[in-house]
Amino acid sequence: MKAFLAGGSGQLGRELRATAPAGVVIEAPMRSELSITNRPRTLEAIEAAAPDLVINAAAYTAVDQAESDREAAFAVNAGGAANLAAGAAAVEARLIHVSTDFVFDGEKGHPYRVDDPPHPLGVYGESKLAGETAVREALPGRSLVIRTSWLYSSHGHNFVATMLRLFAERPEVSVVADQIGSPTWAHNLAKAIWAWSARPSASGLRHFADAGVASWYDFAVAIRERATELGILPAGGDGVAIRPIPSEKYPTPARRPASSILDSFASWEELEMTPVHWRDSLSAMLSELRVGAHA
Ligand SMILES: NC(=O)c1ccc[n+]([C@@H]2O[C@H](COP(=O)([O-])OP(=O)(O)OC[C@H]3O[C@@H](n4cnc5c(N)ncnc54)[C@H](OP(=O)(O)O)[C@@H]3O)[C@@H](O)[C@H]2O)c1
Repeated sequence: MKAFLAGGSGQLGRELRATAPAGVVIEAPMRSELSITNRPRTLEAIEAAAPDLVINAAAYTAVDQAESDREAAFAVNAGGAANLAAGAAAVEARLIHVSTDFVFDGEKGHPYRVDDPPHPLGVYGESKLAGETAVREALPGRSLVIRTSWLYSSHGHNFVATMLRLFAERPEVSVVADQIGSPTWAHNLAKAIWAWSARPSASGLRHFADAGVASWYDFAVAIRERATELGILPAGGDGVAIRPIPSEKYPTPARRPASSILDSFASWEELEMTPVHWRDSLSAMLSELRVGAHA
């Protein structure tokens, strides 16, 4: 199988490249070679590659910046997704597209199912929802849209990397304790995407996250605990105080959902996989980071 991957340098993109099953050939142009906002170039690149599968792991992911950069966020998250869908349609390929828990407003109070009505609170969520719609309209029956949440990996910008940096720099770190979700290791999402790639009839909308729930505060405490056990915090880093704070004490340009837990039961069942608790995933990711640091 040949897969055309957009966003191959991102957190998820790197994990997709690292976990590709034997027999899968990946073509992953970097953003410098192909911006998915350029429709003619995107169509040309996909037609030249003639893939069986297009995977969209590319996105404008700067949630706060999107509030003042609406055009750029929509150009990538909606326009870019539409361009990839048009390219996939032209070569009769399937498209797997990744979306976000931020399409929801967080008011439901229970895990979100795929048939719950979306209602984004900010520009990033709006642009991602527009991307979902574009993909599903362009490729009904041959597209799979997978929403995920709170992604992190041992590469790139994410909450774990930020916490490890702050633990090394400060005696006390304040972390929002009234927003909850499911931290998800990009590695596990990548493996789920490859599992879906082997199920050609799977189409429509799915939710996929690691198991369990946390607030950002809980997540930070677990990062400190596990990083201390693994010896990857600098001297004194384990003694850092973590203070739980309400969202209003940490104002950001974009509003975020208070509870954006995704109901992933159906996806775990469909993929016949044992869900991994986010704490176990965090341990695995931090162990990988430690090995990388000593390599
Ligand atoms: N991060 C999260 O917490 C989170 C949560 C829920 C859902 N998601 C979704 O999960 C997916 C993967 O996210 P991620 O965290 O892996 O993102 P990421 O690390 O920010 O990577 C984004 C990727 O998109 C590429 N990209 C951006 N603009 C592009 C353009 N115009 N043309 C081509 N490529 C472009 C980037 O290239 P450069 O590296 O060259 O800029 C990078 O490879 C996205 O759909 C995101 O919306 C993420």
